[in-house]
Amino acid sequence: MSDTKNLRVLLAKRPQGAPTAEHFRFEETQLPEPSEGQVLLKILYLSLDPYMRGRMSDAKSYAKPVELGDVMEGGTVAEVVESRSEAFKPGDIVLSHSGWQSFAVADAKGLRKLDPATVPVTTALGIMGMPGFTAYSGLLTIGQPKPGETVAVAAASGAVGSAVGQIARIKGARAVGIAGGPEKCAFMRDELGFDAVVDHKAADFAERLAAACPDGIDVYFENVGGHVWDAVMPLLNEFARVPVCGLIAQYNTPEAKEADRLPALMRSVLTRSLSIRGFIQREFMDQRRQFYTDMSEWIASDRVRYREDIVDGLRNAPEAFKGLLEGRNFGKLIIKVA
Ligand SMILES: NC(=O)c1ccc[n+]([C@@H]2O[C@H](COP(=O)([O-])OP(=O)(O)OC[C@H]3O[C@@H](n4cnc5c(N)ncnc54)[C@H](OP(=O)(O)O)[C@@H]3O)[C@@H](O)[C@H]2O)c1
Repeated sequence: MSDTKNLRVLLAKRPQGAPTAEHFRFEETQLPEPSEGQVLLKILYLSLDPYMRGRMSDAKSYAKPVELGDVMEGGTVAEVVESRSEAFKPGDIVLSHSGWQSFAVADAKGLRKLDPATVPVTTALGIMGMPGFTAYSGLLTIGQPKPGETVAVAAASGAVGSAVGQIARIKGARAVGIAGGPEKCAFMRDELGFDAVVDHKAADFAERLAAACPDGIDVYFENVGGHVWDAVMPLLNEFARVPVCGLIAQYNTPEAKEADRLPALMRSVLTRSLSIRGFIQREFMDQRRQFYTDMSEWIASDRVRYREDIVDGLRNAPEAFKGLLEGRNFGKLIIKVA
């Protein structure tokens, strides 16, 4: 290992709009040395997630930004190559939060051991990890879907949205998936079993959505904002619940000036008794154990399916990340680092 280098992707510049290659910098350094209680990890897979766009900005948010010159943050699946902890031995596969780099040192106490014999280890970054848990906790705690109700979800072929639609069906609701393009729509209908699918890129999207929701919408799981929200809002039923999970349409244009729709929104909240509630998945951590139990069972019984979009090579991470914010990914976006 002595001549092996650590390839790291640093935040070079804060983007104003869409991130591009100039906002990242590659650097090769010596391998870090683990101290007592730590392990040296070789990163196998890196998760790319929309929240990373927020970390590139220094605008006030729910988490601290990545500092300029620091390694980009991110969830990872890694192999222990050297251990100074009783809890891990070389060869163990773990879930860590090591960021955009090929090696890292981590405290053993922050790691979770993965069992490659049960499910593919990449699922710890997707359906069995943070995105799957976001869908589970946000939908069940805030959305509370009931049998026969209509649950609509946007970015529905993606990591969070695909789980939302399938869990809604498990709870007896009717799932309406919204995604960009015919390929993603066909996947949601034919592979994931959504009851109806609507392409948000269609010129008559709002009319198609209304036709797909003849009884209105009881739960709208918000991942997107923008024109999708505009089409959903008039369809929300009395007492509808809206878990606000993400607003990806706005991440690259935080300062965009839009018409003031607040009075119309507040009127709808009042006259239709709407519940609109934002959340960050970590607030529901106490549900994590139940999530693992339920989700493993649903995957094993083929009631939940998932799709991963795996891109080869850490050097391709910036371009793949840009694509995530433009809808170029198809399923949970993961970088194969080694
Ligand atoms: N609150 C939390 O704790 C939490 C945790 C995890 C994720 N999230 C949020 O959940 C959402 C989904 O995340 P994910 O990881 O599952 O990503 P994803 O759905 O796998 O990928 C992002 C998708 O967003 C859609 N999209 C991008 N720009 C859009 C636009 N302008 N209009 C409409 N759709 C657009 C694209 O799908 P189409 O091609 O279908 O348009 C794209 O593939 C994000 O908003 C993310 O920030 C929140």
